[in-house]
Amino acid sequence: MLNSERALDFIRDGDVVGLGTGRAAFSFIRALGERVRAGLQIQGVPTSCASTELAEQLGIPLTTLDEVEALDICVDGADEVDPRLNLIKGYGGALLREKIVATAAKRLVILVGTEKLVARLGARGILPVEVVPFALGFCRRQIAALGCRPEPRQAGDQLYVTDNGNHILDCKIAPLPDAAAFERALRSIPGVVGTGLFLGMAHEVLVQDGDEVVVKQRS
Ligand code: A5P
Repeated sequence: MLNSERALDFIRDGDVVGLGTGRAAFSFIRALGERVRAGLQIQGVPTSCASTELAEQLGIPLTTLDEVEALDICVDGADEVDPRLNLIKGYGGALLREKIVATAAKRLVILVGTEKLVARLGARGILPVEVVPFALGFCRRQIAALGCRPEPRQAGDQLYVTDNGNHILDCKIAPLPDAAAFERALRSIPGVVGTGLFLGMAHEVLVQDGDEVVVKQRS
């Protein structure tokens, strides 16, 4: 079984569902689309233009954070998962909307393969941070002063632009001794609008291990 199909077990008729971004999330959106075609009544809140487009193609009814008070659940991927189910996200660039939608949701379910499991966040070497264009150079220097190497993400020979019109600094990091302290330091920099650190947010992580799905729950 695929973890994207297993995630359907968490969805109830009438739910408002956050729709993540990335390969794992898109696989879930496709599986959800089949259920909607079969009669499941849900509304989706997409976390990116790409997930909006996919959900629309599949006929999944959509709503917005302006129209609903809270989401029942959000299903998304991740780039790193530590043993306490803290995450790094944002390699795909949708981190800010992903964090907003995940925060608005009562439950966050994450879909990953075993290659994303790390002993300590930062093990894969990159933490994406979204910054407003006006503050790109300023934020780069401020973040470098925290002891890492922030590189502006490129799209070809242009700066990468997020769905929010911002840029991303991919911060080259070593495994973080204190992710919460690093998050606080990053968020205190004016111009930083979001980081890829999702701490204490995931309720379940569904790990694809070969044909098996291992369900990890936050204690
Ligand atoms: C998008 O910004 C990311 O947070 C993705 O959710 C994350 O990178 C996982 O993507 P994949 O499922 O494609 O690995």
